Amino acid sequence: MENLNWSALPFGYIKTDYNVRCYYRNGQWGELEVSSSEILNIHMAATCLHYGQESFEGLKAFKGKDGKIRVFRMDENAKRLQSSCGGIKMAELPVDRFEEAVRKVIRLNERFVPPYESGSALYIRPLVLGLGAQVGVKPADEYLFLIFVTPVGPYFKTGFKPSKVCIMRAYDRAAPHGTGTYKVGGNYAASLVAGEKAKEHGYAAVLYLDPKEKKYVDECGPANFFGIRGKTYITPASTSILPSITNKSLIQLAETIGLTVERRPVPYEELATLDEAAECGTAAVIAPISQIDDLDENKSFVYSKDGQVGPICNQLYTKLRAIQYGDEPDPFGWVTIID
Ligand SMILES: Cc1ncc(COP(=O)(O)O)c(C=O)c1O
Repeated sequence: MENLNWSALPFGYIKTDYNVRCYYRNGQWGELEVSSSEILNIHMAATCLHYGQESFEGLKAFKGKDGKIRVFRMDENAKRLQSSCGGIKMAELPVDRFEEAVRKVIRLNERFVPPYESGSALYIRPLVLGLGAQVGVKPADEYLFLIFVTPVGPYFKTGFKPSKVCIMRAYDRAAPHGTGTYKVGGNYAASLVAGEKAKEHGYAAVLYLDPKEKKYVDECGPANFFGIRGKTYITPASTSILPSITNKSLIQLAETIGLTVERRPVPYEELATLDEAAECGTAAVIAPISQIDDLDENKSFVYSKDGQVGPICNQLYTKLRAIQYGDEPDPFGWVTIID
């Protein structure tokens, strides 16, 4: 792809050559199919359109200095997709079929995997849709698993820098015992009003409090939250947040660099005691937080005044990226090389 400016790519959709599809019909998943069409032709009464029977995933493939393509923890994405599908009564795709589809879609679109030097990656977007026609509120009897890829630029185009997030108690992204732990489209629709409002006011994201009592820190719109106090990595345990694969990986890395990990409800007041705070997720690995503004109580928690990233966030970020790009050994078995 000689005419793509690899290091300046946005996080947006760029057409690639092929996508991979698999249909669930008559109680079973069929064979993987390859398509060069970007279009789906679906029934107007499909349950994904009316009742939100849709779930998705997001993961990345990276080209190393050695020219090899590595995918990060795709088994975890496969399992989370199963959990999301189970959570909204959709058929669950076997893990090995998911992994086969990931390998296939990368190989078919190999020319779109950005070169090592660009700091960019190939974003992989699997989704499952309820296709069967229903008018009553019922699960579909047919599903489509689809996976497409698109090259995406580095999240930090002008360097690894912290940004501000805000708290607004008038909005929740998920209900207490609702779908917050699943990666389903409805949660993201529910976050759009607050997310856009935050952006209009100059914030990178909304930091949600727990939807039941608003006493604990939950997560950000598209990322988990963690804080560092002294030598402790603190991240919320909550029944309304998505189990982030990045967070799970950072927890393991934190332990290997000698930090104590606390995964537990994090009271709002504790925000005042943290040395570092950050969002974490596939998009950025770590997006450090310079300041949290509580827009309801007119209060701010400041973690960085000078645009500097805290030392632990820096260390964790560097280490995880090095494993993803193959610059450092992968003692955890997190990466799969696509031959
Ligand atoms: C709501 C939410 N929380 C957390 C994350 C981070 O999860 P992961 O690290 O698996 O990308 C994401 C993005 O995938 C998300 O959408």
